[in-house]
Amino acid sequence: MFQLKNVTRRFGKKIAVDSVTFDIPQGQMVGIIGRSGAGKSTLLRMINRLNDVSSGSIHFGDLEVSSLRGAALRNWQRDCAMIFQQFNLVPRLDVLTNVLLGRLNHRSTVLSILNMFSREERIAAIGALERLGIEQTALQPAGTLSGGQQQRVAIARALIQQPKMLLADEPIASLDPLNAKIVMDALRDINEREGITVVTNLHTLDTARNYCERIVGMAHGRVVFDGPPSQLTAAAVSEIYGSGSDLDESMTSTSINIPAAKVRDAKESASPQPLALAGL
Ligand SMILES: Nc1ncnc2c1ncn2[C@@H]1O[C@H](COP(=O)(O)OP(=O)(O)OP(=O)(O)O)[C@@H](O)[C@H]1O
Ligand SMILES: [Mg+2]
Repeated sequence: MFQLKNVTRRFGKKIAVDSVTFDIPQGQMVGIIGRSGAGKSTLLRMINRLNDVSSGSIHFGDLEVSSLRGAALRNWQRDCAMIFQQFNLVPRLDVLTNVLLGRLNHRSTVLSILNMFSREERIAAIGALERLGIEQTALQPAGTLSGGQQQRVAIARALIQQPKMLLADEPIASLDPLNAKIVMDALRDINEREGITVVTNLHTLDTARNYCERIVGMAHGRVVFDGPPSQLTAAAVSEIYGSGSDLDESMTSTSINIPAAKVRDAKESASPQPLALAGL
């Protein structure tokens, strides 16, 4: 069980996250929605400790996440993988190496670690790429891949950390609808098959409804909705986003509905490269 207890984050006088309390049972897929500035990213960043809490506490089982230091903190950041809107890959490095970087916590030079990966780790990395349908790209520089492919590399990198939780901060905000669907399907698959808790900030309401068993709505740093999609009524939506004319169309768009055949085509579009070249 993962727990947030009165978690608050201030930046100067600004309260970004205001006394947030909720539990997440292991294996849930949770979508966090809210307007820009509602505190969604800050909340995720506190969970994996990219930001510290100003007050309150975060717990994972018996572990008090919010007070971890040193090696224990690095272990938590390994257990709690995070993916980002902008993928955060090393563009010049090949895809396989980018995935293998998921095995590390912090290293000063990339070159020094290139020879440190075992054959088992390399096989695991290829396995993760296969799982995401992009093993053919293993030897390409990550920067040459499409956005959707890069996000799948980032997910593969997260997977080989063998995390207990996977956090995603607007993972599809930079992607076209087709790639958005592939990435969301991958997150759902990881959640369902491995039982890994997934907590994802989402830009569009329909994506949260379609993929998340539980939706947390934030406004002005506070949780103003917490429940299944079926309870997300128009009144709840207007409390989250504010009512009236400034409710953006894109928040409720259904642009992610793509025919399955098109998704298959996109998954197969990567140019094939022999895995033997990767030394496997
Ligand atoms: N490092 C920071 N320094 C100062 N203020 C910050 C910092 N990070 C976030 N904030 C402020 O905290 C509030 C919440 O920001 P946050 O990025 O968590 O919102 P968000 O819901 O993720 O928004 P978006 O949908 O635009 O990504 C905003 O008012 C933001 O300006
Ligand atoms: Mg954000």
